[in-house]
Amino acid sequence: MRDIHFDVLIVGSGAAGLSLALQLPETLSIGLLSKADLHSGSTSWAQGGMAAVLHERDSIESHVADTLQAGAGLCHEAAVNFTIQRSREVVDWLIAQGVDFDLRNDQPDQEFREFHLTMEGGHSIRRILHSADSTGSAISKALNARINERNNVRILTDRCVVDLIVNNGATVGAYVLNTLTGEVETVGARAIVLATGGASKAYQFTSNPDGATGDGIALAWRAGCRVANLEFNQFHPTCLYHPKARTFLLTEALRGEGATLHLPSGERFMPRFDARAELAPRDVVARAIDYEMKRLGLECVYLDISHKPSAEIEAHFPSVLAQCDSLGLDITRDRIPVVPAAHYTCGGVVVNRFGATDIDGLYVIGETACTGLHGANRMASNSLLECFVYALSAAEHIQSHLPEVMSESLPKWDDSRVRMSDEAVVIQHSWHALRRLMWDYVGIVRTNRRLKRAANHIAVLEQEVDDYYASFTITKELLELRNLTQVAKLMVACAQHRKESRGLHFNSDYPRLQDQASDTVLVPVNATCGLLTLPDYAASDQ
Ligand code: FUM
Repeated sequence: MRDIHFDVLIVGSGAAGLSLALQLPETLSIGLLSKADLHSGSTSWAQGGMAAVLHERDSIESHVADTLQAGAGLCHEAAVNFTIQRSREVVDWLIAQGVDFDLRNDQPDQEFREFHLTMEGGHSIRRILHSADSTGSAISKALNARINERNNVRILTDRCVVDLIVNNGATVGAYVLNTLTGEVETVGARAIVLATGGASKAYQFTSNPDGATGDGIALAWRAGCRVANLEFNQFHPTCLYHPKARTFLLTEALRGEGATLHLPSGERFMPRFDARAELAPRDVVARAIDYEMKRLGLECVYLDISHKPSAEIEAHFPSVLAQCDSLGLDITRDRIPVVPAAHYTCGGVVVNRFGATDIDGLYVIGETACTGLHGANRMASNSLLECFVYALSAAEHIQSHLPEVMSESLPKWDDSRVRMSDEAVVIQHSWHALRRLMWDYVGIVRTNRRLKRAANHIAVLEQEVDDYYASFTITKELLELRNLTQVAKLMVACAQHRKESRGLHFNSDYPRLQDQASDTVLVPVNATCGLLTLPDYAASDQ
């Protein structure tokens, strides 16, 4: 088995991981790990865009106010201000990296055209910068091109982190499974950054790619970091419902540009639920759809943008158009069947404004982190902004805090007591059982009994996964299941702890909002899953 050493090890190759690697000086050796190829993560799938204050009638105060309102009283105002104040800097940096955002095509002076800004739920003004309806892909392509020019960045694909190696309260390396060879490599690093995305794969129906298995949250938790607010998993209101297609996002920008939601009868129902109708924050729209589907026994509701000119739809939504077209749906003429699906993990590993965690040398950025920006409900398109802002601040912090020396001798991975599995069916079975039970019991509307049932089932699954892990050679599927089971358990623990309904967490047994908003913080006890909650957390550097 080989030992590899880097100054900085970045786990995850999405917007957060790539931009951090690019922000660090070229004098540092950087290892960039990806579970599959570099485009396999959530970033490439992001359709909508990135919120930023660019419009002459917009202001930082207005973007902050909208974010706080969407976050239902739980955002950390310092984190919100910090993030939004840096939005212009981030836009300039992305443009310098070669990202092409759409420009307005209604301005006569071709040289001085402004950005085309679109609208999404919760925003009081157009402020979403985008590249048609494939913004994530445009960003990913540009950042990958820049990374390939860097000699100091070594990209290791097909790698899954098994566990972090922590010594005297500091992270010194990681055990990494090479999923092509089955070998576990010991990787030493002076700093480690987890940028592995969220955990929406915990749910049977999700808009996320397969890799969204909560790896970074589980790794940090096992290493001894606090996690917070995991009860707030965002369900995107409009994912394609089609028996022959995997769940596919129909970007909120469609509603921003005028698409409306309808029952099979044709009735437009959102105005009955909120004055902002289809442009209410996502929790409101997803709950309204869920309510109507349950009330009428529907399999889906319908999204309709067919009243807009075809040329406009084709220019702004070419990917959605093509995807739907391949299934025989013409969005310029037909209404599209949609359902809500798990989309974004608002909680995560507790970090300060540099992405630093409770463990020295361990940083967490992007969807894996809980910075305080999103509160109880992330406002659309704030997450790409968060990725870049925290990648920038983490890069600054890492440079000034890297330990002088690297731990040279790390304990070797010991697999002397495991053997090849002859019952991989356990993994398949548990994977489906977990995602189904999370969908049924920990979904858009929760109750105390459903949460209790979920906790019981997950405890059994966790025991089985632990037994399997202790007995058999590890595989990617096993590691992902182990992480997802652990994060699902944390999600349920957070949900059980909250005795109110707030933002994305709705419990019919506690339908009201408490006067005092407080975070749910879980503290690992001896790096096991002993759960302990603190009333609130204050990151010292906020
Ligand atoms: O609807 C969307 O395009 C998603 C945007 C987001 O999740 O921020």
